[in-house]
Amino acid sequence: MAKSKSTIVFVCDKCGEEYSQWQGRCSNCGEWNTLKEFSIPVADKRDMRSAGYSGATTSKKQRLKDVAGERLQRRTAGVSEVDRVLGGGVVPGSVILLGGDPGIGKSTLLMQVAAQFDGEVLYVSGEESPEQIKLRAERLSITSENIQLLALTNVEAIAAIIEKETPGLLVIDSIQTMYDPNFPSTPGSLVQVRESAMRIQQLAKILGVPVVLVGHITKEGTVAGPRTLEHLVDVVLYLEGDPQHDLRILRAVKNRFGDITETGLLAMGENGLTEVGNPGEFLLSERVQAAGSVLTTIMEGTRPLLVEVQALTVPSVFGYPRRTASGFDLNRLNLLLAVLQRRAGIDLSNQDVFLNVVGGLKVKDPAVDAAVCAALASAVTNTPLPEKLCIIGEIGLAGEMRRVQQQARREKEVTLLGYQTNVQYKELRQLLDAYSLRKK
Ligand code: TYD
Ligand code: MG
Repeated sequence: MAKSKSTIVFVCDKCGEEYSQWQGRCSNCGEWNTLKEFSIPVADKRDMRSAGYSGATTSKKQRLKDVAGERLQRRTAGVSEVDRVLGGGVVPGSVILLGGDPGIGKSTLLMQVAAQFDGEVLYVSGEESPEQIKLRAERLSITSENIQLLALTNVEAIAAIIEKETPGLLVIDSIQTMYDPNFPSTPGSLVQVRESAMRIQQLAKILGVPVVLVGHITKEGTVAGPRTLEHLVDVVLYLEGDPQHDLRILRAVKNRFGDITETGLLAMGENGLTEVGNPGEFLLSERVQAAGSVLTTIMEGTRPLLVEVQALTVPSVFGYPRRTASGFDLNRLNLLLAVLQRRAGIDLSNQDVFLNVVGGLKVKDPAVDAAVCAALASAVTNTPLPEKLCIIGEIGLAGEMRRVQQQARREKEVTLLGYQTNVQYKELRQLLDAYSLRKK
């Protein structure tokens, strides 16, 4: 097909929606005056449609049994928690998107990976100058000679360099700062993010270079940019955590080369991120035994983590009681308060309730239900629980205690660390009675 043939499309700068005709307002996102005209060569358009494909492009067909497996030979990222999340290391030619809030430690993590990586690393930064990166590297005591820095944002120029040098690993920090000069919109716009990522992805596949793209996160908590970005890449990782706390959790939400149940646990310290190899009691170091404090477990991938739930109750000043939860779903808290009232006779309707999951974690695991109930009961009766007690269990609407996912593994870890669990109780009422949490 002749290269000169091209189609004209209008793309919304805000949401990335495509139209065949210009219109004043994007009917997808409702923004005015955001449609920009693009002429997309027909050949490119075809490429775009196949952009979700993750292998190198070849027109030769072959039998499945003859396909050589060596392309999947992984290389270690150097940081074992990263390898763990990736499913055993970096696959050549794979594109990894690393998302996370600003300041959470993405650049720090990638600098540490770059330092440990077995091979040449090209670190392209559109956010920081080489001097700033050097400062970070000094803080991390990095002396590796395999890291090349490049402060550049033009993907065409970057592509030319990669084609010439073929690094062992390419880091793009961040994809929102990159732009392709063939498209007239500004860096960070959806069109630029998409086109730059596509360009880098194709190059990665052809040259077999693994790439990590850093992505910023929107208020809604997803990587900023068109949805196509997540479809385009092979692996989507998120680095999460509360900036006020040390713990960082690396999670995969998509992985074409491994499963997404495994998570990486890291701790941000003075000299960068360290691996929390054996997390168990990691979060409990500052625990003070008091009424309203209860231990429970959450699963991070296949590893149980002991966490502390704290509750505080005070009589409401105004008629309407306040409920505040940090790290825990407010609706779930309201549900548990209703169960406590109806099934265990603990009425908190005239109390303000504050609930906190220690360590800056956001807990969704239903296994903490029983611990939340016990913490509330313990707080309102001012009765502390035994220090070495760890409560595991989901609470049903009938006030029954249910077994939870990976119960055996949790119990094993709890016992291993020298704590006791509460497995013998079938009902919330029994559990609370066992620790005298129902009498006032
Ligand atoms: P950074 O990696 O720049 O975050 P991101 O790239 O995700 O925006 O990390 C920034 C934060 O991490 C900053 O607030 C300082 C802190 N930090 C440490 O606590 N210890 C360290 O060794 C380093 C390098 C950074
Ligand atoms: Mg950064």
